[in-house]
Amino acid sequence: MSTDQVYILAIESSCDDTSAAVIHNGKMLSNVVANQKIHEAYGGVVPELASRAHQQNIVPVVHQALAKANIDKNQLSAIAFTRGPGLMGSLLVGTSFAKSLAMGLQIPLIEVHHMQAHILAHFIEEEGYEKPTFPFLAMTISGGHTQIVRVDDYFKMTVIGETTDDAVGEAFDKTAKILGLPYPGGPLVDKYAQEGNPKAFPFTKPKVPGLDFSFSGLKTAILYFVQKNKAANPTFIEENIADICASVQHTIIQILMDKLKLASKDTGIKQIAIGGGVSANSGIRNTLKEAEKKYGWKTYIPKFEYCTDNAGMIAIVGYLKYLNNDFTDASVSAKARYAINE
Ligand code: KG4
Ligand code: ZN
Repeated sequence: MSTDQVYILAIESSCDDTSAAVIHNGKMLSNVVANQKIHEAYGGVVPELASRAHQQNIVPVVHQALAKANIDKNQLSAIAFTRGPGLMGSLLVGTSFAKSLAMGLQIPLIEVHHMQAHILAHFIEEEGYEKPTFPFLAMTISGGHTQIVRVDDYFKMTVIGETTDDAVGEAFDKTAKILGLPYPGGPLVDKYAQEGNPKAFPFTKPKVPGLDFSFSGLKTAILYFVQKNKAANPTFIEENIADICASVQHTIIQILMDKLKLASKDTGIKQIAIGGGVSANSGIRNTLKEAEKKYGWKTYIPKFEYCTDNAGMIAIVGYLKYLNNDFTDASVSAKARYAINE
């Protein structure tokens, strides 16, 4: 198969964003994301509604991605899609669509692991962004995952630490919910935190051995803290929202940084990358940049559009697999629970 002119269409539908991207030889030509507003009213993703919205969005999103890339579907070399992990009803839409399109166009199909994609997004050709060299540590922080992964090669990844309960994105979203902010609250907590004092309200960090994380205790501590203060002052949240958000975000960043420091010490690896929706957080981005000087790390922070769920990251994995002749046959099915090294 020729590798001079490789055009890959990628599809992502694992949670509540329908996305399609076109990549040409590792360079992104388009990356279209349709967010699903419908979940806001429910304070979280409703799987059945997500699946239905993907069905409505997928055809226009794919058309838009091809149009923006200015290519015709007959020029495509392969179709890549997210096989898992994620919500089954959501994954099924992208998987079925990708399978049918590849079959119709008679081109190869490439399955992609969503969390590998969050990590390999660092290999997208992008001006002003350097690619990590192996080995590096990747901390994947999203609404569904919190892991520290040792990356020895594109597809040689080992999880060396992970959450024992909630994901870090959930900690942000649940904090937001307690404060009466809409879903997904992570970006709002970030916004308010920028105006607040991170030391205003100290929260205790959980004591979890090794490289694992826990966020459920923090969530409960925030709930009790808010309830107690609201009982004494009904407008406590309104008066202190910036300081509460800054303090919670500061605690979360401390938890993440403590584990990253330990992981770097244990492995001797000083190249640190982050990925996943929470890596859009301005506090985390700044703290990691500062860590370069403080600990002699080289850090890799993805461009904003490649942090939250997007098909661009699926496209780069599709391209890397294409070069390896790593294709999937049409009997493939979506996989809701899917370990990164399976
Ligand atoms: O990777 P992602 O788009 O979807 C999953 O695979 O889960 O991550 C979504 C998560 C949500 O929890 C959202 O609140 C969080 O990323 N998030 C943020 C920020 N932007 C998105 N959390 C904190 N600060 C942000 N700026
Ligand atoms: Zn994700």
